[in-house]
Amino acid sequence: MKPNLSMMLLPLAMLAATEVQAFDKATIAKGEYLSRAGDCVACHSVAGGEPYAGGLAIDSPFGKIYSTNITPSKTAGIGNYTLQQFDDALRHGVRADGGNLYPAMPYPDYAMLTDEDVKALYAYFMEGVPAVDKSGPETDLGFPFNQRWGISFWNWMFANDDRFQPDTQQSALFNRGAYLVLGPGHCGSCHTPRGVAFQEKSYEDSADNFLSGGKVGMWEVPGIRGGAQGALADWSQEELIDYLANGRNDKTAVAGEMTAVIQHSLSHLTRDDLAAIAHYLKSLPGQGAALPMSAAATQKTTALLDSAKMDKDSGARIYLDNCGACHFTAGQGAARVFPKLDGNALINAQDPSGLIHVILAGARMPSTKGAPEDLAMPAFGWRLSDEEVATLTTFLRQAWNNRAAAVSAQDVAKVRQTIPEEVLNATRP
Ligand code: HEC
Ligand code: HEC
Ligand code: HEC
Repeated sequence: MKPNLSMMLLPLAMLAATEVQAFDKATIAKGEYLSRAGDCVACHSVAGGEPYAGGLAIDSPFGKIYSTNITPSKTAGIGNYTLQQFDDALRHGVRADGGNLYPAMPYPDYAMLTDEDVKALYAYFMEGVPAVDKSGPETDLGFPFNQRWGISFWNWMFANDDRFQPDTQQSALFNRGAYLVLGPGHCGSCHTPRGVAFQEKSYEDSADNFLSGGKVGMWEVPGIRGGAQGALADWSQEELIDYLANGRNDKTAVAGEMTAVIQHSLSHLTRDDLAAIAHYLKSLPGQGAALPMSAAATQKTTALLDSAKMDKDSGARIYLDNCGACHFTAGQGAARVFPKLDGNALINAQDPSGLIHVILAGARMPSTKGAPEDLAMPAFGWRLSDEEVATLTTFLRQAWNNRAAAVSAQDVAKVRQTIPEEVLNATRP
């Protein structure tokens, strides 16, 4: 029998089939975008290391938990994971070997992701990310937290395992925003208060405490409910979009943990998606937690700072000598350059550690496409003593419309201990 054309083509077709990529370019690109929205790189990389190679130590109340290598390496990463195994890790907190993941991985939030988006993420992590054959340190917590099976009870009591349900009474814009915030954005993992077992107190916007403010390490995280009486009630839709895209707006500038969220995640999202997030946040009313603001209170501190008669060691004097050149006496800042200090969330936080950290270590805005200048606040750790910073922060927490408790030199010393010497001295002339 003479070989016919179809017989000759058959092996070729088989060859092509094994070479053809399992996922098309569009799916991989969608997965890449979702990985930005989910900020996977923030936890699964170390500064200066390869993206997604893991090894970052995340502090938890139970000890240090190391993120793992999620590149498609077959020896050190997740290269052998099936879609099902990837899904089990991402939405259910279960590793390929059946062990539970620690909830330092925000799977109770990612549980909201749609099947389609999990598939796209899988495509990206299998075929869009370069493999890195290097394992990071193993997580080794003390007893009883090294007993991963115990997390099953935690999951049973606290974890969310529901998919996102669009609200049919609401617009497509609202539902897109809700999905991004609840699911990939896992905003609640920092902005919702945590309970006794470190669980997010709510995973749903029907609860009043959802996005009402939380804590990450020493940083108090402000509430971001933008409806009437919410912490961001006086932010316009445009101001919210500007902040999410560029880490600054006419009212404030980002510092602390949120800087990386904007740099690596939110600044890469489309304007439509940021508008959806802003629209959604503006729909969440608060409970009167926002600070009451009055022009008279602003005027009173401004007049004090503008009058020359101030004793040398007072908080007002320390402010004028070190801060006034940039932040001015009226505390109103300058749009998109210097954040407003009057009514500022960081200054009014119950725990002053974040404020103390910014003064000792300085802060830098992220450089984004829309706002490339990475304006910085200098570090004052080398210049001001614990006593002086305590006096200054106590003044700031009572200045203009700010109303928060006094700060002691011990509070300052505790924060100073956590900051490396070279950071404290970064702006020493
Ligand atoms: C807030 C930090 C954080 C973020 C954000 C995060 N992860 Fe994780 N992830 C972790 C930690 C920590 C672990 C390891 C937990 C453990 O060992 O129990 C982990 C584990 C995993 C695992 C299991 C890997 C293994 O070795 O079995 C996968 C898969 C994973 N993450 C994927 C993702 C993806 C995809 C994203 C983005 C959509 C993401 N992670 C975002 C912290 C994070
Ligand atoms: C890793 C923790 C973390 C995550 C995740 C996170 N945030 Fe934040 N966010 C913070 C912290 C800390 C601040 C305070 C920043 C400051 O003091 O300058 C903040 C501030 C903000 C502010 C400004 C509030 C104000 O009063 O100045 C907005 C708006 C915001 N976040 C929105 C979001 C949205 C939307 C998401 C999810 C897409 C998100 N954040 C996810 C930690 C986080
Ligand atoms: C050279 C100008 C400059 C000086 C001097 C300066 N700052 Fe700043 N400050 C900035 C800039 C720029 C930012 C925004 C940085 C960022 O958000 O990353 C900032 C941010 C802040 C923030 C954070 C506000 C927020 O919403 O996150 C506080 C609080 C603050 N400064 C207080 C002070 C105090 C107190 C002093 C004096 C000890 C001072 N600054 C001196 C420029 C300055």
